[in-house]
Amino acid sequence: MNPVRGFWQRLIDEKLSNGDPLVVVAPMADVTDVAFRSMIAKYSNMGEIDGGPDVMWTEFVSANGLCSNGREILKRDLEYSELERPIVAQLFTSTPENMRQAAVLCRQLGFDGIDINMGCPDKSIEKQGAGAGHIKDWKTAQAVIRAAQEGAGNIPVSVKTRLGYNKVEIMQWLPKLLECNIPVLTVHLRTRKEMSKVDAHWDMMPEIVKLVREMTGEVKDGGTIILGNGDITSVKDGKEKARITGCDGVMIGRGIFGTPWFFNEAEFEKGKSVEERLRILVEHTKLYEEKLGDIKSFAIMKKHYKAYVNGFDGAKELRMELMECNNAKEIEERINAYLIENKKLAV
Ligand SMILES: Cc1cc2nc3c(=O)[nH]c(=O)nc-3n(C[C@H](O)[C@H](O)[C@H](O)COP(=O)(O)O)c2cc1C
Repeated sequence: MNPVRGFWQRLIDEKLSNGDPLVVVAPMADVTDVAFRSMIAKYSNMGEIDGGPDVMWTEFVSANGLCSNGREILKRDLEYSELERPIVAQLFTSTPENMRQAAVLCRQLGFDGIDINMGCPDKSIEKQGAGAGHIKDWKTAQAVIRAAQEGAGNIPVSVKTRLGYNKVEIMQWLPKLLECNIPVLTVHLRTRKEMSKVDAHWDMMPEIVKLVREMTGEVKDGGTIILGNGDITSVKDGKEKARITGCDGVMIGRGIFGTPWFFNEAEFEKGKSVEERLRILVEHTKLYEEKLGDIKSFAIMKKHYKAYVNGFDGAKELRMELMECNNAKEIEERINAYLIENKKLAV
C-alpha cells in the first residue's frame, strides 16, 4: 500500500523527478520558533524559484503536553505564518493515544505534515520513553507511528531518527520504522551515544539508501523519501552530499543559525554586509518579542546573536553588549549606536 504523501507528492513531481534533491529546515527546540521560521521564509524567498527551504519544520512539541491543561501555552509553539508552507509539526511522546489526539489537533491547525521525533537524546525526553528512547522499544515506536497516522488522516506522517542507540543499528531499527509505511524518513547520521560530538557518518548513507529502496521500492513507485541530516554547511554542500550518497534530500540544522537567507543560494554566496546582518538581527528580535515575548524568556533570543554577530571588527565587544540587553528596544539602541560609531550609517 502506498503511504499517505500529501504535499510531498508535489515535491516529488517538481523536484525529485528532475533529480533535484530536497532541502529542508531541521526542527530545533527554542531555535526554529515562529519568529525565526518567519525570518527564514522571508529572507530565503521560501516558495519562490530561487528560494527555499522546500519544507519547514517546527521545533518539537510534547504530545502529552498538548493533551494536558497546559495545552494553550504549548499551542503557541505551533503558531506559524502562511509564508512558511509547507510546514511540518514535530511531536514526541511514547503514549499512542496522546499522539493520536495531538495529530488530530495538528491537522485541525492546518499543518501540512506531522513528524515524530525518535532521535532526541535529552534525558528528560528519554525518561518518558520518547525521542531516542524509541530506538530501544520498536513495538511502542510502531504503535506511536500508527496512532499518529490514525489521527493525521490525509496528512503525511514522517519520522526523524538516528543510526542507532549505543551503536549503529540501521539493519535492525530502520526496518521497524519502514514497516509502518511512512512516506519520509530523516536519519540524523549519528547514534544516540554520539550525541553531536563526532562528525555525521555520511559514509553510511549509501547503505541506508540501499536498505530503504529494497524494502519500500523507488520513490516514483511509492517508496520512502530519505533525508540525511548532520553537518551540512550550505545548500550547495547539502545537494552535493545528497547526489553523492544517493539520498533524496537533506535536513539542515545548526548551519542556518544567524543566516535566515541561507536557502537563497545567490544571497548566501554573495553574503551580507555587517549593517544588513545587524538590521536583520534587530528585525528578528522585534518579531520574537512580538510573537513570543509574553511566554518565553528573552535569553532564548540571545543564542542567535553569537551567529549573527561575528567575523567583523568589534564583533566580540558588540556581542558582549547585546548579552546584557533585556528587550528588543535595548538591542536596537545598541545596534544603532554601533553602526553610528563605525560610520556605517549616514547620519
Ligand atoms: C538547539 C537545538 C535544538 C534541537 N531540537 C530538536 C528538536 O526539537 N527535534 C529534533 O528532531 N531535533 C532537534 N535537534 C537536532 C537537529 O534537528 C539536528 O538533527 C542536529 O542538529 C544535526 O543536524 P545539524 O548538524 O545540521 O545541526 C536540535 C538541535 C539543536 C542544535
